[in-house]
Parts: sequence; C-alpha cells; structure tokens
Amino acid sequence: MRRETDIGPDGRLPDDLVNGYREHGFVRVRGVLGPEQVERFGAAADAYLEGHRGDSLEKGGAFSQLVNVWQADQDLRDLTFDRRLGRIAEQLAGFPVRLWHDQMLVKEPHSNTATEFHQDRPYWPHAGDRLPLSAWIALVDVPPERGCMTFLPGTQDRSGLRAQDLHDEDDLFAVDPELRWIPRVTVPLRAGDCTFHSGYTGHMALPNSTDLARLAHVVIYMDAETAFSGGSHPVTDSLGLAKGTRLDGDAFPRPWA
Ligand code: SIN
Ligand code: NI
Repeated sequence: MRRETDIGPDGRLPDDLVNGYREHGFVRVRGVLGPEQVERFGAAADAYLEGHRGDSLEKGGAFSQLVNVWQADQDLRDLTFDRRLGRIAEQLAGFPVRLWHDQMLVKEPHSNTATEFHQDRPYWPHAGDRLPLSAWIALVDVPPERGCMTFLPGTQDRSGLRAQDLHDEDDLFAVDPELRWIPRVTVPLRAGDCTFHSGYTGHMALPNSTDLARLAHVVIYMDAETAFSGGSHPVTDSLGLAKGTRLDGDAFPRPWA
C-alpha cells in the first residue's frame, strides 16, 4: 500500500489544495489514513455493516447509509473524531466547524446503482450557516467501477435550489439546466485517500460493478454557528429542538478544537 500523503508534517494542507477546494468546491487529499488505520477502520466498518445492514436510512437501493455510527462504535468514533481530519476541514472551510453527522455509505458488490447528481446541503435543517463540507474517506480502493465520486466543479455557490432526488439522474439538471453542461470530474481514490466536497457542490457516485463492497466513511462538518431551521431530518427529529436553536452540545461535538 502507498504511504504518501498530501498532508504536511504540520498537519496542514498545502496552499494549492486549499485554493483548489475554494475554486472548484472539492479536493482530493491522498493519505489521510495510513495503512494501519485503513486496516483497523476497514475491519471496524465491515463488522459494523454485518450487524446493522437493516438500519440503512437509504431505501432506494443506491447504497446502505448508516448514520451516526460514532455513537455506536468506538473504532468508528475514533475515525469520525480524527483531529487531523477535523483540522483540515477547518483549514478548508476557513472557520470553526463541528460534526453534523457521520455515515457509512456502502455499495454492495454488483449493486449496479448510481447515486445520482445532487447537492447535500438542501437536505439539511440548517440555518445561518456558512458553507459546510464533507470528507468522503475510502476504506477500500475505490476506482470508478467500484463507485467513486464525480463532481461538478465550481457549483459550490449554487445555493437556494430545492432538494434533489438522488435516484433520478435528471433531477438536479431539471432544477438548474446549466449544470448539465459543466465538465464533470471523476475522482478515483486509493484506500486511505479522501475527497472533501462542499454542501452545495453537485456530485454523484458511480455504481459498484466489482466483486468487493465499496466502503466509504463520510464525516460531515458544519459551521460551528449553525442553527436549526425547524425542518425534518433523521438526525434532529428526535431531539425536540426549537427552531433557531444552535446545533451544538454533545450531539454535535468539536473534538478537534
Ligand atoms: C455515495 O457515496 O454513493 C454518495 C455520496 C454522497 O452523495 O455524498
Ligand atoms: Ni451527497
């Protein structure tokens, strides 16, 4: 396994990657996990999946979506709470961030269903926030045929669109027809690499046509000042929050602070 990393000895990303994120709305960061971490967290993800397949929030067959695994599994919590990753998220964002939620996103072998183009932020009950971002961490090698991500560069400023249906390949383009004509960037990842993408950057993930499950662990970082908009979401529905409440406290920690 390769051992090189884009992260400097000071734990920070070089300016060209930060500038790339700001310009394009996504960036690939190689080697956020070392080989031992890939082995440890990959095994933890496999074991978690075995016990929790039935808990998937995603029912459309595109992938298994297991949310807030940090609350149930100590190893996966260590991954979600990784300080180096959280600090890089803050470097890219340019402001303090806290955890919105994590999720394991698994495409089973030969599942052959794409996650169609969408933006993430319209799904979330957030208000008063600056641009959130997600780290999509590959726990196995994810070439295109195993279901890597494809991005629409420069779409990170397209706020205000309604939530899109990630089972409909045309929905994002129905909402904003110009986006169809943006050159798309597909980003294969080696195990231990990740991409960061903003909450408004249009993206999709290809189907998995291989014999191996596509294991991705996603950590979603929101502006530390984010308030609750009052909308419905599986992460907040049971919390009894009043509209306008700051999303902070134990449910939305900042372990990298
Ligand atoms: C996927 O991994 O299939 C989708 C990820 C995303 O939409 O952020
Ligand atoms: Ni998404």
